[in-house]
Amino acid sequence: MSAKKILISILLTLPVFMTARAAEKQISVNTDDLSIILSVDKSGQLLFRHFGGYISDPDCFSGFKSYRRSDYGTDPLAYPASGGRYFNDAALSVEFPDGDLNCELLYKSHITERLDDNVTRTEIMLADAKGLEVTLVYTAYEKENVITAHSEITNTGRKPVMLRNYYSASLPVIAEKYYLTHFYGAWAMEMQVDRELLTHGSKVIESKKGVRTTHTENPSFMLSLNTETFDENYGEVIAGALAWSGNFKLNFQIDETDRLNILAGINPYASEYRLEKDRTFVTPDMIFTYSFAGAGQASRNLHDWARNYGLYDSSVMCPTLLNSWEGAYFDFDTKTITDMIDDVKDMGLELFVLDDGWFGNKYPRNNDKQGLGDWDVNRSKLPEGIAYLGDYAHEKGVRFGIWIEPEMVNPKSELAERHPEWVVKAEGRPVTTIRNQWLLDLTNPEVQDFVFGVFDRVMQEAPTIDYIKWDANRHVESFGSEYLDKQSHFWVEYVQGFYSVLDRIREKYPDVIIQACSSGGGRVEYGALKYFNEVWTSDNTEALSRVRIQYGTNLIYPACVTGSHVSAVPNHQTGNITPLKFRFDIACAGRLGLELQPKAMSAEERDFSKKAIASYKEYRDLIFNGDLYRLASPYDSDYYALMYVSKDKKRAVVFAYCIRYQGRALLPLFRLSGLDPALDYSIKELNVDKSCFWGSGKTFNGDFLVNHGINPKLGKIYDSAVFYLQAE
Ligand code: GLA
Repeated sequence: MSAKKILISILLTLPVFMTARAAEKQISVNTDDLSIILSVDKSGQLLFRHFGGYISDPDCFSGFKSYRRSDYGTDPLAYPASGGRYFNDAALSVEFPDGDLNCELLYKSHITERLDDNVTRTEIMLADAKGLEVTLVYTAYEKENVITAHSEITNTGRKPVMLRNYYSASLPVIAEKYYLTHFYGAWAMEMQVDRELLTHGSKVIESKKGVRTTHTENPSFMLSLNTETFDENYGEVIAGALAWSGNFKLNFQIDETDRLNILAGINPYASEYRLEKDRTFVTPDMIFTYSFAGAGQASRNLHDWARNYGLYDSSVMCPTLLNSWEGAYFDFDTKTITDMIDDVKDMGLELFVLDDGWFGNKYPRNNDKQGLGDWDVNRSKLPEGIAYLGDYAHEKGVRFGIWIEPEMVNPKSELAERHPEWVVKAEGRPVTTIRNQWLLDLTNPEVQDFVFGVFDRVMQEAPTIDYIKWDANRHVESFGSEYLDKQSHFWVEYVQGFYSVLDRIREKYPDVIIQACSSGGGRVEYGALKYFNEVWTSDNTEALSRVRIQYGTNLIYPACVTGSHVSAVPNHQTGNITPLKFRFDIACAGRLGLELQPKAMSAEERDFSKKAIASYKEYRDLIFNGDLYRLASPYDSDYYALMYVSKDKKRAVVFAYCIRYQGRALLPLFRLSGLDPALDYSIKELNVDKSCFWGSGKTFNGDFLVNHGINPKLGKIYDSAVFYLQAE
């Protein structure tokens, strides 16, 4: 830290109050390497001056002139409100009680507080004279180089104010070119990567589906500046992600000055919000970082922030597991399950998860057409109950988990018969089913109690439960709530209801590992991850498909949250047949699990699996806590290769996969860019009798591995390798 930075840090330990009316003032939000600088101009507008490299003295901006015509529009605003002289899409758009649709936010005061030796929080109060206050909250995480931003909107008038747009944050960026990386997909193909050069006008990334919001698009992005290429190691990259489990919208608009304005927040779609007097609406956090060393550093910043601040207890290392779904589906009894638990023990796994199908009596859940909502153990399938299974597992030293889907109900269920008023539906319109099920209306506090109760009852019934898989297998259609007066509150209040249930659950059950599943990766975002330890990355367990799914997901979300399972062949989703080793090598790059019937494995397969599971346990701390370096991209080459390196750079694990046959003449060369060139490393290929790399078993200088690299013989599709490196 420079002397100046130390001085600034000391000053920040005292709350700083600035009040309006001074001429021009500068406000800075700093991390170790980044600054946001905001200026209050003479008229009291809060202008956005800078987001990028660190600026030690924000007063350099005093007297700054943009040379923009002063009678036409405004300089970039920190939180633009619609009306007045602002023409672009606005962060805030309101209707005042007198019908006025203009809003003019002027600076009132600000305060910066140091929360601890790594985090500062800056709150800037703005107000419109007609009775609205907006506080912009920027939280700076210094060593991670991440800043989060959200707004808090308070009605200080006497009558309700209608909020139409209420985004979390606005980020103006100035560069020659803007190359956007974002995500698209569908069920079983989540987090596919799209890249495009932005042009004038707007590009929108959004969800209007509610609940299962991240199958098709994801509230996150990377933006490479001044280039038309995506580069892992070079160039300036802004990365961002929104922490919200509902409809979201990210808006990228390039205006006539070539400036890009990024808005991120709750989707305004059908969501006009009536803010009563004296009430405050708190928008979700937008998380962003800025890298000067390509996309790789941007990911590592987000991952560090996530592990330190953004995830629910990332210190818990996930046990390796067997999930019953693809191995048994709905077709099991007590013996099937206890046999699986025995297999978990025998194979060296640590947790067994009983998936769907264990409940329902009047309408037994023997398929996905009935029983959902009736959370009593199915007495004909499991007469001994689930507590018996939990005890059985624990006696063997195996942990026990179970599946629930508490927000949903089959029409054919006792719950739907008892509480038709709890179902999400629009008055006078048919209720659609998706996967034969309806959605419960979490805006209703009675439903919130019920959903909490499902979790609570299961936990009470079998206190041995260590892990819950929380599923949500539909999105919202023809939305409507019998409970709400104002239907446009539905989307927001559903999410608030969801979070309030999860708050109660986490208060009572802080140690249970909870997985967010939503038909696979339908809830992969940082709002849910404040409560869940992990996500089920995709229902697609096929290893080749997983290459792109995991590559994309881990651009934004760390591997310590991404569940990845080895399943049987032909794969149940794609029909593809891949070697067991390839399947393991893919699954081992995340939270390793198995999802198959172990009894169907040959002795040879079982033997291989045991070894792969044992070796994974030796290096999984690197997957959970290490730095991710991507060495080859499945979008730009015939390989996917990545490495995780310990923070002290003394240990690393490298994964490399050939994903297309590409002629005998070509072989890869991977530079192990995460290592320390000054150290010596031993390198050893795992899970093989004969290595595909001539150097396996040798020790190399770090500079050779970093600057030249390794050339494993991976020439055929599905060839793969895992290398373990240790500094000597
Ligand atoms: C969803 C999940 C699967 C499985 C089934 C059970 O599809 O994504 O992993 O749990 O539900 O019905």
